[in-house]
Amino acid sequence: MKTAKKIGLFGFGTVGKGFYENLKKHPHLPAKIEKVCVKRLDLPRIGHELYFTNNPDELLEDPNLDIIVELIDDAEAAKVFVEKALNNGKAVISANKKMIGESLAEIDLWHQAFQPNFLYEAAVGGGIPIVHAIDGFFRDQDITQIRGILNGSSNYILTQMQQQNWSYEQALKDAQKKGFAERNPSLDVSGMDAAYKLSILAYHAFGQVPSMKSFEIESIEDVTSDDIKKAKSKRRKIKPIATLVKGSDGISCAIKPEAVGPNDEFYSVDFENNAVSVETLVSGRHVAVGKGAGSLPTGSSVLEDLKRLLQGYSYQVSKRVKTVA
Ligand code: HSE
Repeated sequence: MKTAKKIGLFGFGTVGKGFYENLKKHPHLPAKIEKVCVKRLDLPRIGHELYFTNNPDELLEDPNLDIIVELIDDAEAAKVFVEKALNNGKAVISANKKMIGESLAEIDLWHQAFQPNFLYEAAVGGGIPIVHAIDGFFRDQDITQIRGILNGSSNYILTQMQQQNWSYEQALKDAQKKGFAERNPSLDVSGMDAAYKLSILAYHAFGQVPSMKSFEIESIEDVTSDDIKKAKSKRRKIKPIATLVKGSDGISCAIKPEAVGPNDEFYSVDFENNAVSVETLVSGRHVAVGKGAGSLPTGSSVLEDLKRLLQGYSYQVSKRVKTVA
């Protein structure tokens, strides 16, 4: 019997609890949460058997911990914790798309410098295993385009406005209540959350990161009930579409609400579901659909990363262009 790897978990919010619940359902896995670091120790919590602290160094400096799972929503603090954990020889899993999307040039150096590994499947597409697919399965294929619905909250809001005639505000409130939206929901609705995710996909698909300044980004806040009705009258739905295209003059990235018809691959992708289609020169178009936000789906992606870590898996970034910038 293998010795169980010891996990230090940062954050016990929506995704942290989802990871904890998913892990509990797999008692055979040789991994155990030893310590949890949270901001507030006074809140009532599930997981009474767990040890909680509010001192990050109790985890980061503990030589007995093998793996750090970082699931907090503060991108700056997350970066400090992840880097320190890697420097201290720990494997790391994160779901922090803002931190990862903003720091890919450094993260590329971390991938080359550190062993054990740093994985972040849950940062993109919730429960859809798209980072793993692009970095692994599509490693030797030329990807020409990636198209996706990468923000569950925006898709949920537009779906409820279309199906229930809800106002934008009512739909946003519900997305927050269900745990889909970020603590700062402007990241979701402005398109920034999807932009971070698209950057992560660009890094693994093309080995380079287009400057965020070159992104064409449009918020869903400007979509009115009238726009939704007009689209509906033409049998169309407005969807938050992210597009990444590799052309002869470079990579172009866009995130904007688009009216799509019944023949579009994303027409039936409603509520908090996400979808990603990957187009390659050799094998054509591949489409994956699944829950893109929420506690258990996102927590299940974190669990998949844990299983991969236990098998010694690491990202290859095989298309790495010499300097990622
Ligand atoms: N707020 C994010 C979303 C959560 O709505 O997609 C998953 O990354």
